[in-house]
Amino acid sequence: MNQDEIKRLLGIAAADYIDPWLQVDAYIGVGTGSTANHFIDALAAMQHRFAGAVASSVASADRLKSHGIRVVELNEVSSLAVYVDGADEINPAFSMIKGGGAALTREKIVASAADQFVCIADRSKWVEQLGTFPLPIEVIPMARSLVARKLVGLGGTPVLRENTRTDNGNEILDVHDLNITDPAHLESQINQIAGVVTNGLFAARRADVLLMDLDGEVHTQQRRASD
Ligand code: 5RP
Repeated sequence: MNQDEIKRLLGIAAADYIDPWLQVDAYIGVGTGSTANHFIDALAAMQHRFAGAVASSVASADRLKSHGIRVVELNEVSSLAVYVDGADEINPAFSMIKGGGAALTREKIVASAADQFVCIADRSKWVEQLGTFPLPIEVIPMARSLVARKLVGLGGTPVLRENTRTDNGNEILDVHDLNITDPAHLESQINQIAGVVTNGLFAARRADVLLMDLDGEVHTQQRRASD
């Protein structure tokens, strides 16, 4: 199986996994990326069983709508039972790096509104320590150089992502060389830098459940209560 076929399996498995949450008045949070796209495609057949979806990007909203799935703004719903999204890296505590698709800010917002975060990630995303994948940071354009200097002070090597504007009109710095031994602490530390909108560490709101492939089959892991 190639990687896209595995991602498709994960998307289908996620749609099956959230089945118990589907109710005619329930809204589902939907992530962004190639794995999330397969989840959206799998959701299409179930659309009559839930009220609608809150999307974490314009691209995901467009794909949901192309299937006829109702898309609503987060401001219109009081709760989200579940959020399903991919990741660029995920560690054994289910903390993640996200933002490879530049949607990290809306992803973090929608994820934080959901009771359950279901991560769908192929095995290449599994790491013992986060940080081989450069950490995406959404920055207000006028603060880009200031933020970059502060990130160098934290040991990072920021690189401006070329030809990229987020759905919020901002820029992305991809930060290499960070030694991420305490993801929650670094997430909070980077968020203190003026000009940072969001960073791609998802540790304060990490995944609760991970669907990941092993030998061509999807395995479901719950986050350990001790983590
Ligand atoms: C987008 C993300 C994606 O979840 C992440 O980049 C994984 O993408 P893919 O499923 O295409 O591998 O964070 O901002």
